[in-house]
Amino acid sequence: MNCSSCQLLTQLIMADWSHCLTFGLSVAKQASQLIMAAFKQQKEVTCKSSAADLVTQSDMKVEKFIMSAIADKYPHHRFIGEESVGMGENLQLTDHPTWIIDPIDGTVNFVHSFPFVAVSIAFCVNKQTEFGIVYSCVDDKVYHAQRGRGAFMNGQMLHVSGQQDVSRCVVVTEIGAERDDVALSTMTSNIFRLLKLPVHGVRALGTAAVDMCQVATGGADVYYHIGMHCWDIAASAIIVQEAGGVVMDTDGSEFDMMSRRVIAASSSTVANRIARVISAFPCCRDDAKPST
Ligand code: IPD
Repeated sequence: MNCSSCQLLTQLIMADWSHCLTFGLSVAKQASQLIMAAFKQQKEVTCKSSAADLVTQSDMKVEKFIMSAIADKYPHHRFIGEESVGMGENLQLTDHPTWIIDPIDGTVNFVHSFPFVAVSIAFCVNKQTEFGIVYSCVDDKVYHAQRGRGAFMNGQMLHVSGQQDVSRCVVVTEIGAERDDVALSTMTSNIFRLLKLPVHGVRALGTAAVDMCQVATGGADVYYHIGMHCWDIAASAIIVQEAGGVVMDTDGSEFDMMSRRVIAASSSTVANRIARVISAFPCCRDDAKPST
């Protein structure tokens, strides 16, 4: 690495990204307003990877809105966006300042006007998440966290429940969009085993980002998901961590937002217990290069 690269790297590490967070919060609010304007309207729906993996004109429009607003203000920043990747954009997280965007998390909910949809925006530098924003549109709740500075919902500080006993947990999860036999039997048998532990209950809101934020609020004690993508959980992962929670892979190893597996929990005791109970089905990493 030459001297000017070293200087640039040091500047990036030392930088205070609060101005980007403030800007991201205002963009997320405007994106939420666009989503709410279309929420009760008839939607034009297209299927992506499966019959349950949907996209609408609003997903495209909102992603375009968010990206062009940020690109105008920060022309050198990079993006990973759900719909751009769906259209063939390369998905590689580099050391450059990068915004990871899910314009509508909970597209199936959006299509049905089921009242849980969110805008999810994470910001990474040197592959480390600096902040995350989850704007839950229908209930007008904004969750955010900045590295080392705590997690908040509508300005109120968040704390996980701290629950240590898995048999007293509310577990949040999602079945996801995969519909092949291996995925379905893995997901349903995971739920069966959890209910037999027993846990207090299993819930699913239909948006990974909002699901995971429930752990940050203490309303749920643990969340796990297999098969989601980095844009679904990048923002909520830092929100859970900053609220005092633990985020890891479903096999108990270190969290990797590209692995498509996550456990977010109120304590490491609960996270490790859940890791021992559930199993995962194989899925391709988000950053695996498409085969040529
Ligand atoms: C989906 C939602 C859903 C989860 C899927 C995600 P999208 O995101 O978060 O709850 O089960 O795995 O892909 O497609 O609505 O942005």
